[in-house]
This record gives sequence, C-alpha cells and structure tokens, in this order.
Amino acid sequence: MGYIWDNPDHLQLLEPKTSDFEVASVFHGPMHTMRVMAWVCVLSEKLNMPNKGRLAFFAAVVHDMGRCNDAYGPRHGLRSADIHLPLWKSKFEYVGLNEKEYNTVYEAIRWHSKDNEPPADHPDIEVINLLKDADGLDRVRIEPEGPRPEYLRFPITASLIKNAQTLYNQTESMSNPSLAKIVELAFKYK
Ligand SMILES: [Fe+2]
Ligand SMILES: [Fe+2]
Repeated sequence: MGYIWDNPDHLQLLEPKTSDFEVASVFHGPMHTMRVMAWVCVLSEKLNMPNKGRLAFFAAVVHDMGRCNDAYGPRHGLRSADIHLPLWKSKFEYVGLNEKEYNTVYEAIRWHSKDNEPPADHPDIEVINLLKDADGLDRVRIEPEGPRPEYLRFPITASLIKNAQTLYNQTESMSNPSLAKIVELAFKYK
C-alpha cells in the first residue's frame, strides 16, 4: 500500500487553514498541526505502518482544532473529535476513509490530550501512539530540548528530536509554507 502523503493533490486537500481552528493560536494552529502531520508521515514510514499512519495523519489534521486557548486542556481532544472531525469527514472519505476507520481516527483525536494513557490493549493503540509521538516531537516549539524520551511510545521517535528542532526553526522562518513543503522537509532530515 502506498502512503497517502505521496499524492500532492491529497496534501493540498488536507492542508489545514487558520480558519479551521476555533482560536488562531501560534502554539496550536496550522503550523504546529502541519509539523505533527509531517512527523506522522516520517514515523509511519520508519515503522512501516502505511495504513495506521494514514489514519494517524487524518487524526493529526483535526487534533487541536477544538482548542479554545493555549492553556493546559485535557478535554480539547474530545472537543476536536466531536465538533471538528465531522466537518472533515467528507474530505477524508474522498481520500479513502471508511466508517470503521473513522472511529479509529476519532479515538486517536480523543485520546491525544487525555491525562491518562490509553489501555495497552486498546484496539487503536498504534494509531493513538503515532499521533501522540508526532505531537510530542513538536514540543520543541515550547521546550527546545524536546520531549523526554521516557514519555515517547516508539523508541525510534527519540532519534528524531534533533530533526524536530531543525524542522521547527526552518518552518517558523518561512512565510506560509505549504503542507507539501513541510512534509518534504521532514523527510529530508530523517
Ligand atoms: Fe492537543
Ligand atoms: Fe498538538
């Protein structure tokens, strides 16, 4: 199976805009979301998880859209899943999402912001963990040293922290980079 991000038309279709977010946030707006999407792409390829990566990619699009502010907020995942995922459903279906997979995407969005970890035997655990680790890599925007490796779910994610710092610095110095460009840069540094 190919990777969804290999298709430039799909990247363009799924590129988030500031107006998709409840709050125009620097920390949790489109630039953060696109870097998380890009890290989902790299992680999924390194872990050879094309289909789970595809679902984590959809979850990444929507994961922070329901944030009402930049403060600590463990319920914003649920809000994003309940309010914003339905708004993206037709686009995701257009690029191949089915009803059962929709629920997996919902679960990944819902779990990403919770205080507690999902049960290890959760049927969607790998998709949830892909989103959580990709989101964790872009913590470099808040804590330059990046996420503590013990908080990451896949051992390989820790090896990407330096790349995440580079991607953050480079993309923040660009004016309105496209999703395709950010994904390209993330792969360049892998
Ligand atoms: Fe979040
Ligand atoms: Fe996030």
